[in-house]
Amino acid sequence: MTSETLWYANRATGAVCLVLFTVVVLLGIAVRLRGRIPGLPRFGTVTLHRTLSLSATAFLAPHIAFAVIDDYVDITVLDVLVPFASEHQPLWLGLGTVAFDLMLAVLVTSLLRERVGHRTWRAVHWLAYASWPIALIHGVGIGTDTGSDWMTWLTVACVAAVVTAFGLRLAHSARAARRTPAALLRTAEGARP
Ligand code: HEM
Repeated sequence: MTSETLWYANRATGAVCLVLFTVVVLLGIAVRLRGRIPGLPRFGTVTLHRTLSLSATAFLAPHIAFAVIDDYVDITVLDVLVPFASEHQPLWLGLGTVAFDLMLAVLVTSLLRERVGHRTWRAVHWLAYASWPIALIHGVGIGTDTGSDWMTWLTVACVAAVVTAFGLRLAHSARAARRTPAALLRTAEGARP
């Protein structure tokens, strides 16, 4: 493969990763809100979320590999795991590495969920929310396609979808928090002699 082909492949896989991780975040929120995807049973949403997160992480492998193999820029295997150590675009590349490390932590604790316990798994799973904007900023900061029409629309669509879903998720939590004291009060009143 020529350096130019590797560069195109790195950019293409980066854009695909962004879309896949966006859908993973949306499905994760849908699972939490006990939402259903038309034509799928509820457990189908959970399965799709899990399968797609594995596929997205698998797709990240070629994105990273193309960047390392391409010798036009100097990105080492160490730069893939240690944030901000790279000589090439240390900040933007470092954010990609941080997102990758966080996603690895989410993936590993999900695969070992039985062993690490629900609390640890849940705490680490929150990192998935953090890794998504970090990966997005990485792509915008380092990407050659930043500023092109198609990339701008793709980025805007991903951000709009995640912000909307996150808003629904927060509204759902707020409603649940309001309902809990009212339910407790009703129970206490019912128990009065
Ligand atoms: C969750 C993690 C990551 C996601 C979702 C992601 C996504 C993206 C996106 C969307 C782009 C912009 C592509 C374009 O402009 O067409 C990009 C560019 C790039 N990414 Fe990542 N990335 C991630 C992690 C990494 C890591 C760990 C590395 C390597 C250490 C890396 C190396 C690069 C490079 C070198 C570019 C620049 C390509 C160019 O010259 O346009 N990325 N990435």
